[in-house]
Order: sequence, then structure tokens, then C-alpha cells
Amino acid sequence: MFLLTFFLSLVLGLRTVHAGTDLAWKDDTDLTSFITRPEIKSPLYDVKIHNPNGIEEGYWFVAPYVKIHQEKFPERYYQTCQTGPHIYDAQGELVWSGACMVNNRDTNDFRVVKYNDTTYLSAILHPLGSDFKGHGIIMNTSFSTVKSIYNPVTITNFNMHELNIVDQGTKALHIVAKPDLADVSALGTGLQAGWVANNGFREVDIGTGETTFEWWALDHVPLTESSVNITNLEGPHPSAWNFFHSNSVDKNADGDYLVSSRYTDCIYKISGKDGHVIWRLGGKDSSFILEGFNFSKQHDARFLHENSTHTVLSFLDNAADPFSETSDYSSALIVSLDTSATPMTARVTQRWERPDRQLSRLRGNFQLLPSGNAFICWSGNSYISEHSPDGEVLFEAKFTSHRSVSYRAYKFNFTSTPLEPPTLKAFGYGESPATSTTVLYVSWNGATEVKSWNFYRAEDSTLIGSKSKTGFETTYHSQGYQKEVYAEALAADGRVIGTSSIESTVLPAHWTSEGTKASEDQRTHHEWYKQEL
Ligand SMILES: *[C@@H]1O[C@H](CO)[C@@H](O)[C@H](O)[C@H]1NC(C)=O
Ligand SMILES: *[C@@H]1O[C@H](CO)[C@@H](O)[C@H](O)[C@H]1NC(C)=O
Ligand SMILES: *[C@@H]1O[C@H](CO)[C@@H](O)[C@H](O)[C@H]1NC(C)=O
Ligand SMILES: *[C@@H]1O[C@H](CO)[C@@H](O)[C@H](O)[C@H]1NC(C)=O
Ligand SMILES: *[C@@H]1O[C@H](CO)[C@@H](O)[C@H](O)[C@H]1NC(C)=O
Ligand SMILES: *[C@@H]1O[C@H](CO)[C@@H](O)[C@H](O)[C@H]1NC(C)=O
Repeated sequence: MFLLTFFLSLVLGLRTVHAGTDLAWKDDTDLTSFITRPEIKSPLYDVKIHNPNGIEEGYWFVAPYVKIHQEKFPERYYQTCQTGPHIYDAQGELVWSGACMVNNRDTNDFRVVKYNDTTYLSAILHPLGSDFKGHGIIMNTSFSTVKSIYNPVTITNFNMHELNIVDQGTKALHIVAKPDLADVSALGTGLQAGWVANNGFREVDIGTGETTFEWWALDHVPLTESSVNITNLEGPHPSAWNFFHSNSVDKNADGDYLVSSRYTDCIYKISGKDGHVIWRLGGKDSSFILEGFNFSKQHDARFLHENSTHTVLSFLDNAADPFSETSDYSSALIVSLDTSATPMTARVTQRWERPDRQLSRLRGNFQLLPSGNAFICWSGNSYISEHSPDGEVLFEAKFTSHRSVSYRAYKFNFTSTPLEPPTLKAFGYGESPATSTTVLYVSWNGATEVKSWNFYRAEDSTLIGSKSKTGFETTYHSQGYQKEVYAEALAADGRVIGTSSIESTVLPAHWTSEGTKASEDQRTHHEWYKQEL
């Protein structure tokens, strides 16, 4: 149990919005509402498209959650499927809800990855129930988990910040944490030994589960580099001083690593040979002169490009935590490091500012797309935006309520083949079968390739109509009463890619049980009504 408490202390800086005090979402108007899938209640996006032509093709990959450590909160207001991995299209329409699949479990870092030239999805599942440490998963494009990645037993929970698949998909990087008793004499508190939250990362061979590299900040970074107030050195160790708080790790072609530490305001290049710090960007002991910029509480540091004289990085400069700030608003940066200059220098080559001129005090990420567009998650309300290379804001979107946040968001192309079939529902309406309408509703959770739907009468497989797909759920009004129906999903080339089961049309209560003729009462009523006309 102490591990859980310890983990909670690690993420105290990551508390979600004060959902409990925001009553705007006490009804469910901020969630999707489908006839075919009533259990799927995904957060709705409010989307502002400023320049449709500049937006890069792709889907949004997000993972909304309400509160970190949901099992600690008695009020499970997310009991319908609303927490977990989600895919939305570029208009903000839901494509896939994985919330039921993960049983509403908090999920992080949901993205598309390549493994042996094949596309997969990866994500981090938070601790829940008997899986008290959580783990990483790799799913195929049918949304089936094909690999699970676990921590070694000596390490606490599977850290929520990062699951970075590297080395052509053969290895995964994730962040690790554990309480350690350390020599804290340099901090000048009078204590010799104290409890600190040691933090680092681990590289694991996905195939074998073996650790191929492990790095701990306490072995390489003096405690005096931390920029956060010293707390709880005397323990208890589960709430030990969180001096480092790493939130991303990346790897380059040379086999060296890049670690972002939120609590030292510093990005470290780590030797893949012996773990020593090759250089520090930012913080109290920067190896570079920062030319005309500064950053703090940053997230998502990535290697973009390297040669013998330069290293180019991207990261999100949050420039704030809940207590302080270093700029007026957060921004996404591309920084070019001249590692051949003496002294070494760093300068910003591109900067994209948060469009609403606010600060992302927690979380967030920045993905540079193939076209050079910037896709940025500012995190609160899952606020995302895309920007052209020259800074034009192409679109902005955020959830319509404060109910959930997404830690990160990504944009990828994606083609799926869901294992579950399309879901169809049909309802009869009208005074009698002879004068009725059958309304059909169809959806296929996660199917990316559906362009249109064919609807059939089941008795004789007669086509009763077709309709282009409209959003997650498509509705079709058919003249007359159809007793049993099914639907086919068609791809752009007309191929049938999925078929629903045969569904009986739900009859109005005032029809007879066979549904083939109106009840006597109803017929009488109907005749009387016609005479009145
Ligand atoms: C990935 O490719 C390597 C080399 O071609 C092969 O040895 C390995 O079995 C492949 N793994 C999977 C899961 O397909
Ligand atoms: C995904 O895995 C499931 C279960 O093994 C399998 O049935 C399905 O065909 C796989 N999908 C793809 C696209 O490989
Ligand atoms: C850190 O300590 C300073 C000085 O005691 C105090 O003013 C500040 O509020 C503390 N910050 C936090 C986040 O607790
Ligand atoms: C190295 O990269 C920098 C920054 O991208 C670039 O300006 C420079 O021309 C490159 N040098 C070589 C030798 O390619
Ligand atoms: C840091 O940069 C911001 C602009 O992004 C500037 O307003 C601020 O003054 C800078 N702070 C320092 C200490 O230079
Ligand atoms: C999606 O594919 C298109 C066409 O190949 C490409 O231009 C675009 O960059 C891709 N989008 C992403 C997010 O990779």
C-alpha cells in the first residue's frame, strides 16, 4: 500500500482540474450520446478550424481521465465508458472509444508506434485493482493487446509519463521511481541522510522483457540542482522529497538518451555507455549559454536532428507550475544547440505560443508533424492546437467541459480492422405497420475505413437503402416496416468490410406483439382520426 501512497506523492504536481467544484458537467451534455452504443460517453470536443487547408491529415490520439488515482475517489462519476484511450478525427468526431475495453481505467501516452514496419498502438494503464502497479500495453490495429510491459519487482508503479518505443520497435523506454535513503548533507538542512524520490528511466527489450539499460538521477545529479522546496526528508519514505520528477525520455541514433526533469528545469543528455551526464540544457548548471530565451517545468523533450556540430531538440516550455511562472504563456520550442562552440550555445529556431495566451501549469506535449506543422497538447480540458511552421494557428479544440484532461495528445494516420462487428439498432414508428417508418442506427467503434452503409431486410436480403457514413453513428429512415434488418459497412472502393448481426426492429408499444397489424384499439383510433380530417 505504501507504494501507492508514494506514487501519489510523486504526482502531486499533476493534480487534475478541481473537477469536484465545477458543476458545469453534472449533467452529461458534454459527452457523446449514441443510440447504438449508449454505454460510450466520450468527452465532446469544441473545435475551431481557422484554416482547413493547412491542417495535416491524421487522427487525434488522446486519453481523457477525470482524476489520477481514480480508485481513491469514492464518487465514480465516470462509470459509463469515458476514461481511457480515444481516437477522434480531424473534425473532433469520435472514431474509437477504448474506455470500455480498459474498464474506464486511467490511461496515458496513447499513440501509434511502428514495430517491425507494422503499425501498433501503445499506452500506459494506471494501477487499478489487482494490477496494483499498472503496466504498458502494445495493441495491434484490431485493438487487441499483443504485448504487455511490466516493471521489475524492485521498482514502484509503472510511471504514467512515458512509454517511448525505440530501436525500430524492439525496445521501450519508461520512467521509473522509488524512494531511496540518500546523503542529503549538501542541502544544508542539518540532516546527513534523508528520504528522496529517486527517479530515472529503464529501457526494456519488448520481446524478452529484459532490462537493457537503467538510469537513476541520484547516481548522477546533485540534489542541489532541484528547484522545488525541500520537503519530507525525514520521511516517511513513501512521501519522500520529489527532487527530480522526470517526465520524458528519448533515445538518439548513437544510443544516448534525453531526459526531461520538471523539478530541475533541465534537459539532460545521458550517455548510453555509462549513464554519465553529457550535457545539461537549462537549470542551475546549464552546459549551454541560452541565447535570449529561458524555460521551466518543461515536458516532452525529443531529439529531432543531430550532426557533429549541432543537436536540435523539441519540447514544451510550460513556463509554469501551480505556484510560479517564468513567462506569460506556455510555448512549444525547437532549440538548436551548437555543441562545437566554446562555450556551447542554445538558441530557439521556432516558437509556437499557446493560442489563448494562457499557461499550461501541468502536463502537455508537442509533436512536430512530418510537414513541419506543430501539433500541441496544452492538456487542461485536452486543449490542442495545430500550427503552421510560420506560426499560423490552423485549429484549436478542447473538451466542452472541465470534466476531463488528457496528459498528452498526438496526431497520426491510422487504419484499423476492429474485431467487433458493426452495431445496428432499428425502431418502428407510426400508427400502423402499413403507414410506418423504420429508423436504423448503425456504428462501428474504431473502424476507420467505412465510407458508407447498406441496409438490408433480413428475410430476403433485399437492399432497403444506402447512406454515406456520417460521424460515429449513421441514421437511416426507411419507408415501411422492416421486421428484421442488418447493415453492411462499405469501404471507399465499395468492398464490404463488415456486417452487423441481424436485428429485430423494436416495435411501438401500441402495435401487436407480431407487429404485422395494429391492435384493434389502435386501428379504431386510426379510423376515427381519419374521419375527423
Ligand atoms: C521482427 O523482425 C525481426 C527481424 O526481421 C524478427 O526476427 C522478429 O521475429 C520480428 N518480430 C515480430 C514480432 O514479428
Ligand atoms: C490482432 O490480434 C488479434 C488477437 O490475436 C487477432 O485476432 C487479430 O487478427 C489481430 N489483428 C491484426 C490486424 O493483426
Ligand atoms: C517554497 O518555500 C517558500 C519559502 O518558504 C514559500 O514562500 C513558497 O510558498 C514555497 N513554495 C511551495 C510551492 O510550497
Ligand atoms: C548540422 O546541423 C546544423 C543545424 O541543423 C546545420 O546548420 C549544419 O549545417 C549541419 N552541419 C552539417 C555538417 O551538416
Ligand atoms: C524568460 O523569458 C520570458 C519570455 O519568454 C521573459 O518574459 C522573461 O523575462 C525571461 N526571464 C528571464 C529571467 O530572463
Ligand atoms: C498522413 O498521411 C499523409 C499522406 O501520406 C501525409 O501527408 C501526412 O503527413 C500524414 N500525417 C501524419 C500526422 O503523419
